[in-house]
This record gives sequence, C-alpha cells and structure tokens, in this order.
Amino acid sequence: MIMAPRDTAAIARDLVLVVAIVLVLGAHPGAAQLLRDDHYDATCPDVHRIVRRVLKRAHRDDARIYASLTRLHFHDCFVQGCDASILLDNSSSVVSEKFATPNNNSARGYEVVDAAKAALEVACPGVVSCADILAIAARVSVQLSGGPRWRVQLGRRDGATANINAANNLPSPFDNLTTLQQKFAAVGLGDTDLVALSGAHTFGRVQCQFVTNRLYNFSATNRPDPTLDRGYRAFLVQRCPAGGDGTALNDLDPTSPDGFDNNYYASIQKRRGFLQSDQELLSAPGAPTAPIVASFASSQKVFFRSFARSMINMGNIQPLTGTQGEIRKDCRKVNNGS
Ligand code: HEM
Ligand SMILES: *[C@@H]1O[C@H](CO)[C@@H](O)[C@H](O)[C@H]1NC(C)=O
Ligand SMILES: *[C@@H]1O[C@H](CO)[C@@H](O)[C@H](O)[C@H]1NC(C)=O
Ligand SMILES: *[C@@H]1O[C@H](CO)[C@@H](O)[C@H](O)[C@H]1NC(C)=O
Ligand SMILES: *[C@@H]1O[C@H](CO)[C@@H](O)[C@H](O)[C@H]1NC(C)=O
Repeated sequence: MIMAPRDTAAIARDLVLVVAIVLVLGAHPGAAQLLRDDHYDATCPDVHRIVRRVLKRAHRDDARIYASLTRLHFHDCFVQGCDASILLDNSSSVVSEKFATPNNNSARGYEVVDAAKAALEVACPGVVSCADILAIAARVSVQLSGGPRWRVQLGRRDGATANINAANNLPSPFDNLTTLQQKFAAVGLGDTDLVALSGAHTFGRVQCQFVTNRLYNFSATNRPDPTLDRGYRAFLVQRCPAGGDGTALNDLDPTSPDGFDNNYYASIQKRRGFLQSDQELLSAPGAPTAPIVASFASSQKVFFRSFARSMINMGNIQPLTGTQGEIRKDCRKVNNGS
C-alpha cells in the first residue's frame, strides 16, 4: 500500500507521541505515576528552599532533628500511606497516632513541621500538603547530613483520618526478620528496601528501653542476646544499667552519630547493631538479607543509590492524589474539623 504524504506525517506524529508517553512513564519505574518531582514548580517554586531554611534553623539548637524528621516520614507512610496522618492531634474525629506505642515519647519534630508549614503558608498559601512537607524534610535532612540526594516525588494530599491501631503495628525493635519482612511486604516493600531503609539508623538517638532485654534477659533466657558483640554489650551496660533510666539516650551509630553514611552495615557485620531488628538483618538463621548487608557495608555508593530508590518507593505508599483528601492549613488538624 502506498501512503499519501499527509498520512505518513500523521503516523510519524503518532509515533512521536507514543514514544514520548513511554519515555515519561518509563522515567518512574514502579511508581504509581501519580507523584511528580515538578509538582510545585509553578505553584510554589521555592518549596525546597523554604523547607531547607526552616530545617537548618532548627538544627542550630538540635543536632538530632534531621534524624527525627526522617523517621517521621517513615512513621507516616507505613500507616495508611503517606497522608500526614501522624501529624493529626486528638480531636472529636481523630484519635491521634502520636500516642501509639512506637510514637509516644519517641517520635519528634512536630514543631519543626509546623514551622515549615507556617513559612509555606506565607509563601504559597493552601498549596503544599503536610504529607509532602514530611517527604521534603526527609530528603533535605538526609542530604544535609552527608547522605544521598534524590528527586523527591510530590503531589500527595493530606488525609482526614488517623489510625492508631495501624500505628501500634509499626515495625517493632523486637520483631524478628520474618515479621519485619511481612510488615514491609504489606506496604509493597521488599528485602532490599528493608535493608536499605534500616540504614537510616546511621543517625539519630535511641532510648535504653529498646536494648535492655538484649543486655540482660533476651527472650526470657536471663542471658544476653547471643548475637550481640561482647565488647559492645559491655559498653551498653555502662550506658544502660539494669533497672536504670529506660529513657536515657544513645547514638544509634556511635561511629558517626549525626552523619549519614554506611557505617551502620559494618557495625552489624561486627554484631554491633543496636536494636534486635537491626541485627536480625544479618544474624537471623539463613537470613536472605545478609548478602544485602554485605553489599552495603562494602560500598557506600551502592548503599546511597539503594537508599534513594527505597525512599522514593516508601514515599509512594498509597498517596492521596488529585481530588482525594485536602491540603491542610494546619498540619495538626483537618480543615473544617473540630
Ligand atoms: C525496620 C524497622 C524499623 C524499626 C523496628 C525501627 C525502630 C526504631 C526505634 C525503636 C528507634 C528509637 C526510638 C526511640 O528510642 O525513641 C528508631 C529510631 C530511628 N529510626 Fe527506626 N526503625 C525501623 C526502620 C526505620 C526506617 C525505615 C527509617 C527511615 C527511613 C528509620 C529512621 C529512624 C531514625 C532516623 C531514628 C532516630 C530518630 C531520632 O533520633 O529522633 N527507622 N527506630
Ligand atoms: C489523645 O487520645 C488518646 C486516646 O484516647 C489518649 O491516650 C491520649 O492521652 C490523648 N492525648 C492528649 C494529649 O489528649
Ligand atoms: C504516653 O506517654 C505519657 C508520658 O509522657 C503517659 O503518661 C501516657 O500514658 C502514654 N500514653 C499511652 C497511650 O501510652
Ligand atoms: C518471628 O516472630 C513471630 C511473631 O512473634 C513468630 O510467630 C515466629 O515464630 C518468629 N519466627 C522466627 C523464625 O523466630
Ligand atoms: C526475664 O524475662 C522473663 C519473661 O519476660 C521474666 O519472667 C523473668 O522474670 C525475667 N528475669 C529477670 C531477671 O528479670
């Protein structure tokens, strides 16, 4: 069949369109294609700069804040998706997740999120969601701590509900590897995500109460955890004496407490993981995650690349988009709530 020139041109145009669509979709493999890194380019172009400025100011008085904010994004995304549910206070319609066991007297940084929201409401009122502020804060925090950068995906909207039961079921420091894998799989994350994201324990603090069983009475044996290095145990016994203050703070990564690097994995290989959930990644019998720990321990570059990818994966858990949810004016309450 011979085609007229106009038909050929039309087909060529269609082809270009198809190729363009494939390229655009292919640029975000695995993502729901709903979030975009340029979401606020037209409506709030300074969003990253504004969040960074607020975080840097908070960091002047609080070296731990970058770690705390990174954890908030995790605790948000694992509970009914990245919808800023963790930020809601108690109200007539909300039972706040802030008082769930993993968060109560543990999750922190809410005031800094409020400060970022306030600054954004001045610059571009009603535009930037609280869920996106958490995603941006995590990205800025990791970068300012010496970690990798990634194109943070944006366009999440804020939910109107919280779920304290789901918050109580967040991964626990006392979970074994099987349970950790199940909790990650339940939100679509795999072994590589579990190992890479656990690497966030390269910075921040942890209370004694989460290690005392490993020091003195592991699994009701009246013995220490056999997978805990003796020298590290002796160090932690000084810091966390039996019957002492369970809220006393320790560095999650004593080799570089506030820096984002791959030392966490080398520590695990030396049986110096702080939490049982950290050490399980290597020491659970036949752990399929052990080779991933080894690869991240031997190459910071490989770890950084995986961490960036897994943060994007985590940020894609069940976002509200389009006309779902709302853009909260105040991250602590739903609009028109009471
Ligand atoms: C794999 C399952 C995980 C468990 C069981 C777990 C558990 C914990 C626990 C018990 C603490 C100490 C809390 C306290 O002492 O008050 C902590 C701290 C922290 N976690 Fe995790 N975590 C997990 C995964 C993650 C993930 C995925 C991230 C982020 C991507 C993360 C980031 C952090 C950070 C940065 C801190 C320090 C926070 C601060 O200093 O305020 N964790 N985690
Ligand atoms: C919020 O509600 C929960 C559950 O009813 C309760 O345990 C907690 O103490 C309340 N917190 C405040 C600050 O009112
Ligand atoms: C949260 O912690 C406070 C102590 O700051 C405690 O009084 C309260 O009972 C805890 N709430 C829950 C629900 O465990
Ligand atoms: C892991 O923990 C779960 C829940 O506590 C338990 O049912 C399971 O037997 C444990 N698995 C292993 C391999 O220890
Ligand atoms: C060790 O833990 C078990 C179970 O939690 C408990 O019954 C036992 O009394 C504990 N031992 C000590 C010395 O506290």
